[in-house]
Amino acid sequence: MHPDNAQMALSTPTIALSDTEFNLFRRWLYETAGIHLADAKRALVAGRLSKRLRELELNSYQQYFDCMIETSKGDNNSERQTAIDLLTTNETFFFREIGHFDYLRQKLFPEWGTRAVRCWSAASSSGEEAYTLAMTLAEHYPGDWRIIGTDISSRVVKSAQRAVYPMLRSKNIPTRYLHEYCRKGTGDKANTFKIAPKLRQNVEFSYANLQQPQTNLGQFDLIFLRNVMIYFDKTSKQRVVNHVLDRLKPGGLLFIGHAESLNGVTQRVKLVSPSIYLYLGSN
Ligand SMILES: C[S@@+](CC[C@H](N)C(=O)[O-])C[C@H]1O[C@@H](n2cnc3c(N)ncnc32)[C@H](O)[C@@H]1O
Repeated sequence: MHPDNAQMALSTPTIALSDTEFNLFRRWLYETAGIHLADAKRALVAGRLSKRLRELELNSYQQYFDCMIETSKGDNNSERQTAIDLLTTNETFFFREIGHFDYLRQKLFPEWGTRAVRCWSAASSSGEEAYTLAMTLAEHYPGDWRIIGTDISSRVVKSAQRAVYPMLRSKNIPTRYLHEYCRKGTGDKANTFKIAPKLRQNVEFSYANLQQPQTNLGQFDLIFLRNVMIYFDKTSKQRVVNHVLDRLKPGGLLFIGHAESLNGVTQRVKLVSPSIYLYLGSN
């Protein structure tokens, strides 16, 4: 074989994503998850899906789209779920936006007293947010508590349920909490740590698409809806915020990301501190 041909056979063929194909995925992701992909996200979409195309030995993004819709008819949703897993951005870390956890300790826990509380980490990604909340509650809150974490990506939900993280991810966890609430892996897991059972027993994770009402989750005293609205346009944001507030007890608190805002999105809340809202009840 000519060396140039050998080189071509070895290198990964680049499959182009046309405007029409990009728009297909864009519309589908918006209708499914409320996520708005700007034009600038085209390379990201191509990059994230290309490995899957190769795995399935497909020659175009159109073929992958057709395959995803076709194989996801009826109960078999798995290729749609794979596409959602690939197209969502799941970046998160322990003790992200630490001011929120200071607020809990200093302001909210004294108000709660000792009553039993339920908290929801909506869009929990791989669980770091829910476990940060769990460490803060376990350390500083005298009453009973439970946390539910949910996400639209099944891949990150499974990862949150495993509760195993690379050691590098522990860098923001205060040393005391690390000793008390995390277990270092051994043998071939020496570079990882696992959240201790005493926290895990109070935290559960499940799939939930916030674009849909979440009536089966019950009512919460506190909801974290952080760093997910940045992916939504105003319509999706309003829908999600209404679904989330429907699950908050009147007088409960909603925490959003520091870079997010509820201006013009809802009249059902009152700002009590930057990115922290008090739920006034349905109107
Ligand atoms: C950037 S992460 C934020 C994680 C965490 N809340 C934090 O602040 O660190 C955003 C998460 O929102 C999830 N997500 C996006 N659209 C969603 C939807 N419609 N319903 C539920 N989760 C969604 C993504 O899968 C992703 O894991």
